[in-house]
Amino acid sequence: MSKIILTGIKPTGMPHLGNYIGAIQPALELMKDSTITSYLFVADYHSLTTVHTAQTLNEMIHQVSAAWLACGLDPKKTTIYRQSDIPELFELNWILSCITPKGLMNRGHSYKALVQANHLTGKKNLERGINMGIYNYPILMSADILLFSADEVPVGADQEQHLEMTRDIAFKFNHTFKTDLLKPPKTLVKTKLLPGLDGEKMSKSKGNHIPLFCSSKDLRKAVMKIKTDSSDPDTPKNPEESIIFSIYKAFASKQQIEKLEDKYRKGIGWGEAKQLLYLLLEEHLSEKRKVYESLIKEPKKINTILKEGAKKAREKIAPFMRKIRETIGIGDQTPLV
Ligand code: ADP
Ligand code: TRP
Repeated sequence: MSKIILTGIKPTGMPHLGNYIGAIQPALELMKDSTITSYLFVADYHSLTTVHTAQTLNEMIHQVSAAWLACGLDPKKTTIYRQSDIPELFELNWILSCITPKGLMNRGHSYKALVQANHLTGKKNLERGINMGIYNYPILMSADILLFSADEVPVGADQEQHLEMTRDIAFKFNHTFKTDLLKPPKTLVKTKLLPGLDGEKMSKSKGNHIPLFCSSKDLRKAVMKIKTDSSDPDTPKNPEESIIFSIYKAFASKQQIEKLEDKYRKGIGWGEAKQLLYLLLEEHLSEKRKVYESLIKEPKKINTILKEGAKKAREKIAPFMRKIRETIGIGDQTPLV
């Protein structure tokens, strides 16, 4: 049996350059391997924990799907689907909820951070603004992974705890029902981090990001906003200390990096450094941007790709779901003895 790689993307808007370097590119690289089976899904019901405007959620689902497809995800090689199109996930979510100790969820980093934020802002009710979706988030994520028997799950470092919980939940299920049906997955942590305009980790929530697909004009404008010091053009510069260079390095070839390093050490104006970064980004993104722009205008096409992926995914997991029901004694089945 070939190795199964699965990952989910929470639709939270148009991806940025950091998402591309840290998540999209490495996942697509892994998925190129023809000896593996790969699944990639849009975790729309995970977004519902925080996004409560129908149109916004719908647009973000399309933006994320179009971005992955424009970056080269091949639906023939990788099964791409929408989480909400797989009803079995929500059935497994309930089954797992019934064996997961509540204490495990009490330890969730995201849940604890929200309680802590309420504490710090002097709220009397420490649970204020925390819905059950946020609390149960890791159980749905476990269902996403365990239903597909994923061997490896590439995620950002912030998701490591969710993967540990998934393993705990798989062990608990197997122990409870004296089976080895659920496969505890391995985490593949992505370590490449791209800085944002201010030098902090590029992130949507920090507002320091450069969108992956904006117009060429807006891309240039964003690059021109990258923070620099006030040294003049002739002053030699250490490339390792420059935000512009860090972003350049993530997209450039070895030769391009060496050439620019040399320029920095001899002295380069920040205007020129930014222009070179802009040109490099244009070179990488302009073709993909065209595909993105045409796809985003055709939501039906995106929907068809996602629906076809969901059909394939459901066919794949149907026998496994039957086994799970059989194992827990649910459904219209012939008695086991
Ligand atoms: P954001 O912080 O902008 O909300 P997400 O949390 O949605 O981004 O990130 C999705 C994935 O993209 C993360 O799991 C991580 O792998 C990757 N990622 C996000 N920001 C960066 C970054 N600055 N550099 C590299 N990878 C990143
Ligand atoms: N929680 C992940 C994130 O915020 C998204 C996600 C949902 C996911 N289900 C998953 C990732 C299953 C990997 C596997 O980035």
